[in-house]
Amino acid sequence: MIIAIDGPEASGKGTVAKLIAKKYNLRHLDSGLLYRLTGVPLIGQKFNNNAEFEAQAIKAAGQINAAQLDSPPEIARTMQGGVMASKVAVIPQVRDILTAIQKNIAKQKPGAVIDGRDIGTVVFPNAELKFWVTASIESRASRRFAEYQAKGRSDSLAAVSQAIAERDHRDSSRAASPMVRAQDAHLIETSKLSIEGVVEALSVFIDAKLADLKGSSQN
Ligand code: CDP
Repeated sequence: MIIAIDGPEASGKGTVAKLIAKKYNLRHLDSGLLYRLTGVPLIGQKFNNNAEFEAQAIKAAGQINAAQLDSPPEIARTMQGGVMASKVAVIPQVRDILTAIQKNIAKQKPGAVIDGRDIGTVVFPNAELKFWVTASIESRASRRFAEYQAKGRSDSLAAVSQAIAERDHRDSSRAASPMVRAQDAHLIETSKLSIEGVVEALSVFIDAKLADLKGSSQN
């Protein structure tokens, strides 16, 4: 069973994916972390041109292994880490390498809940269930701002909001696997929902799908 949860930055999809995986005894795969880990070695480096940047990014993607997902360096989760992730994410070869890793991890039984941007469209177009989890830019900015504050970071709300808008734009306008809602993804608008509320909303669809699968296996 593959459950794809896509959506824009700070929509809550990661937290929800983790809780859904736990609830249904599935593996959780945070695909964004693969892009963040690819970007980490490039942070603070100087590149003479784009070709050099791309070559380094492809090399970094080739060095990623699944074990790194369990203990990512702190910088991977920062605003800088997110910006660099979205810069390496426009490179088709990087996406191919990271997509292969995702397929490999998720094919192991009993299946997985994967969150990202292109899971339902490109990585697992045949996923049993797809969700598009989103929220207004204001809610997303205040959530991310609170997260950074809890970590003792001093980015202002305005800076966080602007960084989200820029990343949304880079993610949805790139040529390779742009961030877009799959036609068959259930839309979950989370601006006014608690995390528990979002988990409940997804669970309705998941329970129905499980009942369906059970019914068809008994026929
Ligand atoms: O957690 P948040 O929504 O901030 O982002 P993330 O899921 O950690 O993803 C970081 C960046 O990686 C995104 O802005 C995308 O540019 C890229 N990404 C992607 O291109 N495809 C994915 N399946 C997941 C992430």
